Formats: sequence, C-alpha cells, structure tokens
Amino acid sequence: MNRKSRLPRIFFCAGGILLLSLISACSGPEDPGAPRTGSPAPAKPMAALAQPVEAIGIALEVEDGAGMPLQIAAGGRYFIDQIDLRDSVAAAVDRGIDGLKGESAFAALHWGTPVLEDTHFLVLPNADGTFTRRRFYGDADWIRLDSVMTVEQLDRDGAPLAGILRLPIGAAAPDRGEDAFFIRRLRAIQWTYDCPMRDDCMGAKNFLEEALVELRHARRREAFELHERTAALRLRWSLLPGSSWKIPVHQVWNPEYAYGFNIDIETLTSPGADGSYAPGSLVEFRITLRDGTGRRLHPAGSLPTYNEVISGAVDSGIQYYRSFFDSSTVYYRRKHRERMLMVQMIGPAQNVQPIRSVVPLSAFLAADDDVQHIGLPGRDGVFADFMTFPVARDLFGGSFDPEHAPWNHPVSDIWKFTIPPDAVPGTYLVTAKGRRVYLGQDIPFTRTIDLQVGTAERTTTTLDTGPCTDCHSGHAALANLLHANDNRAACIACHAPLEFELEGNVHVRLHFIHSRSDRFPAPLERCSTCHLTAAGMSRVSQSACLSCHKSYPEDHVAQFGPVTDMYVGASEGSFAQCTDACHATHPDSGFD
Ligand code: HEC
Ligand code: HEC
Ligand code: HEC
Ligand code: HEC
Repeated sequence: MNRKSRLPRIFFCAGGILLLSLISACSGPEDPGAPRTGSPAPAKPMAALAQPVEAIGIALEVEDGAGMPLQIAAGGRYFIDQIDLRDSVAAAVDRGIDGLKGESAFAALHWGTPVLEDTHFLVLPNADGTFTRRRFYGDADWIRLDSVMTVEQLDRDGAPLAGILRLPIGAAAPDRGEDAFFIRRLRAIQWTYDCPMRDDCMGAKNFLEEALVELRHARRREAFELHERTAALRLRWSLLPGSSWKIPVHQVWNPEYAYGFNIDIETLTSPGADGSYAPGSLVEFRITLRDGTGRRLHPAGSLPTYNEVISGAVDSGIQYYRSFFDSSTVYYRRKHRERMLMVQMIGPAQNVQPIRSVVPLSAFLAADDDVQHIGLPGRDGVFADFMTFPVARDLFGGSFDPEHAPWNHPVSDIWKFTIPPDAVPGTYLVTAKGRRVYLGQDIPFTRTIDLQVGTAERTTTTLDTGPCTDCHSGHAALANLLHANDNRAACIACHAPLEFELEGNVHVRLHFIHSRSDRFPAPLERCSTCHLTAAGMSRVSQSACLSCHKSYPEDHVAQFGPVTDMYVGASEGSFAQCTDACHATHPDSGFD
C-alpha cells in the first residue's frame, strides 16, 4: 500500500462531536491492541473549521457463523449502517427449509410456521442445461417478531471495552420511526440447482437452504468511538441469546484514502457554439472515481481489471458487479451487494417514459459494441443507451469463458455514446452509478449530468408518479437509499427489462418491493400513494399488475396464459399491453 496520503488528523482523536478546530490539540495514541498498518502521523496544526466530524457508517457481516474480518481506520467515530447475517445448509433432498431448523446456526431461533411466499426460476439455464429455482419464505417467528441487535467493542483478550450499542431492528411491520435501519429484510430461501426443466424440479438432488438477515440504511446513527485497543466487535441478536459473533477488527493507522465516494463525469467532446451537441454526434466521456476528499481512486486513463477487483488486489475500494459469486435477486437477496458500476444516457427529458422492449442477452455479448442500445426513439419514444464497467462482453462474456480471460482485459475510464441522427432536441441525462467498499464503509454514489442535444434550450421531465417523499425523506431519501439517486427522470435506461432479468424494469421493481414488504405504511391498493394521475396507470400489462398480484382469475389464465414469473407474470410478452378497454381504474385506488 502506498502511504503518501494520510487521513485527516481527526482519525486519531477520541471524543464526542469534535470540532476540527480542536484537532491540533489531539495527539495520536499508539495502538497497543491491534496489529499495525503504518504508524500515527505527527500532529499538525490545522486551520479552524467549525464542522462537526461526521461518524462513518460501517457494514458488518457474518457468514455461516463467522464474523468477516474488518479493517477500519483507527481512532474514528462510527455507526452501524449495515448488517448482513447469513447461514446455510446443503441438502440432497427437498425438505424445503427444514434443514435450517435442525442444523444451522439459526436452528435455535423460534421458527413458528414459515410461509412460502414466492417461487422463481432463473431464466438462463445452468452450464449443464439444468435450471435453478429459488423459493422464498417469510413469516417465521424470527422474521416477524420485534428484536434487537447489540454491538460491543472487545480487546485482544475478548474483554468488553466500552458501552453496548443497542440497535432495535423492529418487526415485520411499518417502521415506527424507532427502528435502527430503514431496510429490514429477513427471510429464508431454498435453492434448487439442478432442475431438469424451467418449471419442474422432479428428481433434483442439489439443494441449499439459507437464512438471511439484511439490515441497511441506518436511521438511528448512534455513533461510537473506536477504542484504541479494539480488536473485535461482538454482535448479538436478542432472538438468539445463546449465540454471539466476533468480527475481528484490524485498525489501520495511515489509510491511503479517505472515506466517502464520488464519481465525476467529464465530457471530452466539445459541444457546438451554442453549447449543444448535434444529433448524430459521437460524444466521449471520462469517468473518475474519487474518495470523499476528491482523491482519485485509480490512475487517469484506466480503471482496474475485473480480476484485480474480485481478487481483492485493489486497495481503493472500487467495486464491480459481483452477482456471479454472491447471487442477488430483486428485493429478496442482497441486491445492495451486486455493486454494478455503470453509466446510462436517456433523453430528451420531455419524452422520458418506461422502456418495455426487452434487451436481448446477445446485446451484452456483441463483439463490436461496448454499448447496449436500450431505447430507440422510433420504437420506444425515447433514446436510451447504457454501458457497464468492464464492458458487458468482458464482464458477462468472461463468465461463459472457462478461462475467464476477458476478466483480465484492460478497463478504460473513457466511453462513448452516439447521439442518434434522429434524436429529438432537448436535455439528455447522463448518469453514472457505483459502489465503494473501503475500510468497513459500503456506500453507493450516483452522478447525473445534463447534455443539450440539438438545442440550447433546457427541457424537463413531467413524471406521473411521485413525489415519494412521504416515506423517502431524511436518511431514507432516494438521494441516500439504494444507489443514491433521487433524479427519477434518470432511472429508466438502466431499468429496462433484460432477457435474463425481466424484472429490470422500474415499475416492476417498485411494485414488487413495496408490495412484498410488510413495512409499506399505506394501503397497497391505494395507487394514489405513488401515482399522480389515473392515466399514468392505465397501460395494463401482465408486468404492471402481476408485479403486485400473485395470480389472476381463471378466465385470464385461459386468455393470457398462466402466471409463471413472480416479478412480471410470465415471459417477455408480459410487457405488452393486454387491453385498453378493461381496468381503466383499480378498486380503492384513490382515484374516482
Ligand atoms: C446507472 C444505472 C442505474 C440507474 C440510473 C438507476 N439504477 Fe436502479 N439499479 C441499477 C443496478 C445495476 C441495480 C442492481 C443493484 C446494484 O448494482 O446496485 C439496481 C437496483 C435497483 C433496485 C432493486 C433494489 C432491491 O433491493 O432489490 C431498485 C428498486 C432500483 N434499482 C430502482 C431505481 C430507481 C427508482 C432509480 C431512479 C431514481 C434507479 N434505480 C436508477 C442501476 C441503475
Ligand atoms: C408509503 C410509503 C412509501 C412510498 C410512498 C414510497 N416508498 Fe419506497 N419504500 C418504502 C419502504 C417502507 C421501503 C422499504 C421496503 C423494505 O425493504 O421492506 C421502500 C423501499 C424503496 C426502495 C428500495 C431501496 C433499497 O435499497 O432496496 C426504492 C428504490 C424505493 N422505495 C423507491 C420509491 C419510489 C421511487 C417511490 C415513489 C414512486 C416510493 N419508493 C414511494 C416506503 C415507501
Ligand atoms: C410504491 C409506489 C407505487 C404504488 C403504490 C403503485 N405504483 Fe404503479 N407505478 C409506480 C412507478 C414508479 C411506475 C413507473 C412510472 C413511470 O415510469 O412512468 C408505475 C407504473 C405503473 C403502471 C404503468 C406500467 C407501464 O407499462 O407504463 C401501471 C399500470 C401501474 N403502475 C399500476 C398501478 C396500480 C393499479 C396501483 C395500485 C393498485 C399502483 N400502480 C401502485 C409506482 C407505484
Ligand atoms: C401496488 C400493488 C398493486 C398493483 C400494481 C395492482 N394491484 Fe390490484 N390490488 C392490489 C391490492 C392490495 C388489492 C386488494 C387486495 C386484494 O384483493 O388482493 C387489489 C385488488 C384488485 C382487484 C379486486 C380483487 C377483488 O377480488 O376484489 C382487481 C380486479 C385488481 N386488483 C386488478 C388489478 C389490475 C388489473 C392491475 C394492473 C392494472 C392491478 N390490480 C395492479 C394491489 C395492486
């Protein structure tokens, strides 16, 4: 690790809400407890700045009973922003999730009567031609009941060092504002990896049962000082009083980078004299990932290769898509840990609308194009492109190559979008999203810049949903949640349906998450909670309705086919409009 830069001196001070003006009074304590990385920097006087020092959110993880070791900057103030607990047992017979009750670290939990809530088959077959089925269970007592997590600091000998941090995680019920985390997702999943058909697991022998606790987006940010002798954090859960998990802590004295995450987008191609780009232009952009102080996380010109990132060789915290290794599933499993770095462009703003054309897998593997063309103005009424880092043929193609050779390909920090020759003039939105995982902090960032196309006059999007802020405010604001994006005009290019993930679509995701959650604090059938007009919900499709509903009447089954996909209803055809005569309104929708 290169030690040229140092964290601000504050990281060597202890104390409550410190002011930076006090920094020069602090001295860097030696670190008698933990193994050392570098040594404290000498105290230097600093200009007075009346800024309270913000505590840093950290993510804790326990995997099959073992706390995942954590490196944290020494001497800082922290709060718990995320907890992931997972336990699993393999099985050769289909016993639902009963193995978890008998054999796992979660066996001692009160199980009550878990309910199978949803079943989903992955669209793409496995390498050997079999299919994967997931069954999602809820309603077990431990999933439903109110409970509390606690965190303590321990020294090298396991003795507690400071007070106990109490984190009430609430129940499977709307948050009363007292729960420690906005997102509380507890569930059990049965995986079947060798189903002979996409709708049938007869004869399967390869099962995995897992229990998951996913807590994120701290709303109570009780900060604690990291004690200089802390060598572990001990996590306990009130529902498992006989267990505790030790998360080894390695204190890092001179971290190379600061906490925080920023993404810059720079336009390298100059616009015309009026500041706008002509339809048909090729526009070159540069992405730069930085820490919270603006220090770049990679050299100019390149980003790390995929293999460098997944092997853990990258110290700066840059992340790429990792669902190959830790599968993620909308709402039900670890979508926050998918960590895709990607960019999109959509426009013109006045024509932004849902994209319902399915992006084929072949678009991700095309040899001659880095960019996926999502929205075609003639077909979709809006232009939209996206691109992933590394480019999709390397990223996804690498998973189909037994040698994974494309995962060693260089990754440029430059990309190009071509504005179509028939582009409608207006403001186009270019957005980049990513995640950084650095010294215990696991955070998203999204940046959107505007680009004028064919006119200097700015245009805007009129949304027919929103404003969403009744529930998404404060720490749960869309600017903080998920990928930290509160510009809802800029959701749709990344969120088109994909051949291998039909639920990519944004209305499917939003209906699904809010309808499956027990935490949605409004009557679900009252569409007017999110929809501003009845007209905005008049385009009836399987995907629009079956992203909340799990079934429809027999005559619908006969006419439109059975419900086979928990997210979108059926297959690619789920996005087609089924009627413009029926369902102009919804019972109790809030619209007359
Ligand atoms: C630059 C691309 C991009 C943009 C823009 C974008 N998303 Fe996403 N979104 C993703 C990716 C990729 C994921 C998968 C998780 C990850 O990698 O962060 C995701 C995941 C999601 C999920 C699933 C979360 C879960 O828990 O299962 C929802 C819901 C979502 N996005 C909604 C939105 C909304 C609403 C907006 C606009 C305000 C938006 N997205 C903008 C790329 C994007
Ligand atoms: C009546 C309250 C309410 C309204 C209105 C609401 N939400 Fe939510 N939203 C929630 C709750 C509660 C959750 C957490 C669900 C869970 O994890 O159990 C959530 C979760 C989400 C997530 C997932 C975040 C993640 O990290 O996975 C996204 C994205 C989101 N909402 C976007 C929106 C958008 C966009 C709108 C407006 C169109 C909206 N919400 C309107 C209550 C609301
Ligand atoms: C949690 C917020 C939320 C709730 C509650 C909600 N919707 Fe939606 N819905 C959305 C969002 C966001 C979109 C996408 C809007 C867009 O992109 O223009 C959408 C889109 C739709 C669409 C259009 C799909 C398409 O192809 O364009 C329909 C139809 C729809 N919703 C029906 C309903 C009905 C019926 C209800 C009530 C029973 C409902 N929604 C409740 C958030 C919500
Ligand atoms: C945001 C979630 C959501 C969406 C989207 C949604 N619904 Fe509903 N719908 C509900 C809820 C909740 C109820 C009331 C409880 C129930 O009967 O399931 C309901 C009730 C209904 C009923 C009355 C059922 C009965 O037996 O009384 C019909 C019919 C219906 N929905 C049709 C639709 C159609 C058609 C669409 C798509 C245009 C749609 N819904 C979209 C949540 C939704």
